[in-house]
Amino acid sequence: MPLLLAFDDEAAPAQRLLAALHATAGATEPWTLAFVQRHRFPDGEWRLRLPPELPAEVALYRSLHQPNDKLVELLLAAPAARELGARRLWLVAPYLAYMRQDAAFSPGEVVSQRHVGRWLAAAFDGLITVDPHLHRVATLAEAVPVAQARALSAAALLGALAAQRRPGALLLGPDKESAQWVRQAADAARLQAAVARKVRRGDRDVEVALPALDVRGRAVVILDDMASTGRTVARAAAALRAAGAASVDVAVTHALFVGDALAVMKAAGVGEVWSTDSVPHASNAVPLAPLLAAALHRSVRSFQISGNSTTSSILRK
Ligand code: R5P
Repeated sequence: MPLLLAFDDEAAPAQRLLAALHATAGATEPWTLAFVQRHRFPDGEWRLRLPPELPAEVALYRSLHQPNDKLVELLLAAPAARELGARRLWLVAPYLAYMRQDAAFSPGEVVSQRHVGRWLAAAFDGLITVDPHLHRVATLAEAVPVAQARALSAAALLGALAAQRRPGALLLGPDKESAQWVRQAADAARLQAAVARKVRRGDRDVEVALPALDVRGRAVVILDDMASTGRTVARAAAALRAAGAASVDVAVTHALFVGDALAVMKAAGVGEVWSTDSVPHASNAVPLAPLLAAALHRSVRSFQISGNSTTSSILRK
């Protein structure tokens, strides 16, 4: 029986994923859920304990916000899972960290995406994630060269939510990277889309220039893959308000919202904020479990269907 393995601080989304795995039509064998027990030693090191006997098929659920701690957990848990019986190991990481550092912007700068990606690919047989920040590197498989890399998107779900809450809204992507998500969302929800231009000078120092478009009196929803410091959204919102937008709301896949992000966004004129539950947050309005469950079933089945030759090359001996 395949096993979903999760951590106690993500019990709620893991339970939702388990329920969705059971509810999804065409389900493979029923999944069970178990938790990795963690103890933090006084010096900061982890002691992890996994169930002592694991089935052949194991999916580890870990969304990679607070990435540095969690990557160490994975560094320990993935090889341990294999020692304990897992023969095919999936990582279900709704939020995939370190995807934005995809180039060296100055000599000697580490291209973190490449190294984190290669390391995850060595540790897991398959990866399922949502709206990974792919920009200069076009596909998830290039960033994380794992046997099966599935990049899902919440853009259509966020677009539908925006259309329901603000009928006829204009969807605005705050920078050129966001064009991929904003266009998908607009197509799915039959809304108008536009994309702004952004210049980033520092972590909290960004400038956003609106496209040439009359937004007077319009409801606008800023849509992006993530908000971290909230400065990108705040600058876009302030510009939209100054240009006469009637309302400015925000829809993001990954609600990182570090520090004073929400306060800064609200002060800039943002009304409501909606996000998926890839990162647990008060703004969560779109559950990802059905999307993730369908992808996990598809992934497991595709290994089964592709037959023994492919399977045996994937399964670790
Ligand atoms: C980058 O292009 C991303 O899509 C987001 O726009 C960015 O990470 C948001 O960062 P912050 O909230 O810190 O401005």
